Amino acid sequence: MAGGRGNPGGPALEAAAEALRRGRGVVVLTGAGVSAESRIPTFRDAMEGLWKSFDPLRLATPEAFAADPVTVSRWYDFRRKKCLEAQPNPGHWALADLERRVRASGGRFRLLTQNVDGLHQRAGSEDVVELHGSIMRWRCSVTGEPVSGLPEQFAEYPARTPDGHAIRPCVVWFGEALPERALEEAYEALETCDVFVSVGTSAVVYPAAGFVHLAAQRGATTIEVNREQTPISGSVSFSLRGSSGEMLPRLVESAFGAIDGR
Ligand code: OAD
Repeated sequence: MAGGRGNPGGPALEAAAEALRRGRGVVVLTGAGVSAESRIPTFRDAMEGLWKSFDPLRLATPEAFAADPVTVSRWYDFRRKKCLEAQPNPGHWALADLERRVRASGGRFRLLTQNVDGLHQRAGSEDVVELHGSIMRWRCSVTGEPVSGLPEQFAEYPARTPDGHAIRPCVVWFGEALPERALEEAYEALETCDVFVSVGTSAVVYPAAGFVHLAAQRGATTIEVNREQTPISGSVSFSLRGSSGEMLPRLVESAFGAIDGR
């Protein structure tokens, strides 16, 4: 399919929306760019990315946690609270509405997110696969047992289980495998995907960055919504440049009409 490129609302968006409307197996992959409009910093954006102020290998690895559990758990608890304070934005709402519309028309929908902030679920998305885990869930760093009833404010760092074991966030750190169940659910959805949408991700971290190619190999229409060019922009069916909070509502409304309740 000839690549559609273009400004918001142009022929490329309309053609992408038409493909979305016809979709029977819609898979959406989201990255930090979707939550950026909820004031949660992305990873790699030069200006406001998290990584301009810290070295991920210093904090986001099991070795870093073992060496300095105070700093690592303090940093993740700080991010957890930022995520709790954040609100879903129009991009999140549009994806929740897209899921409802696709299902109402008899299609299947799955949202694969690299984000750990829980905002998709708070916006009403139901079939959400957290590929990189969740900063809202923590577990015992020794037994792996989930910790329930996290306090609003940790009394100490690292916070500990009654057995005195340090607890850690259930996010995927560098060098760790993605949750097996999440990967299974992602590949299961890709099996029957006929429209794949990549939103707000730099498309450089695998295996998530490879999903668009798997979908394309199976003949799916592929759509990218991103503020900047990425390694997949030149190979997707439609590359829509713009902010997710503006583009996603346009895409869904162009495909299905006015978005419910927003
Ligand atoms: P990045 O920070 O790598 O990329 C964010 C992408 O979103 C960039 O391409 C931005 O141009 C784009 N962007 C920023 N604001 C946007 C907006 N308002 N609308 C649309 N696009 C926008 O974040 P991710 O791609 O999510 O992994 O990073 C992937 C993974 O790298 C993360 O999940 C994390 C990190 O290692 C783990 O933690 C395991």
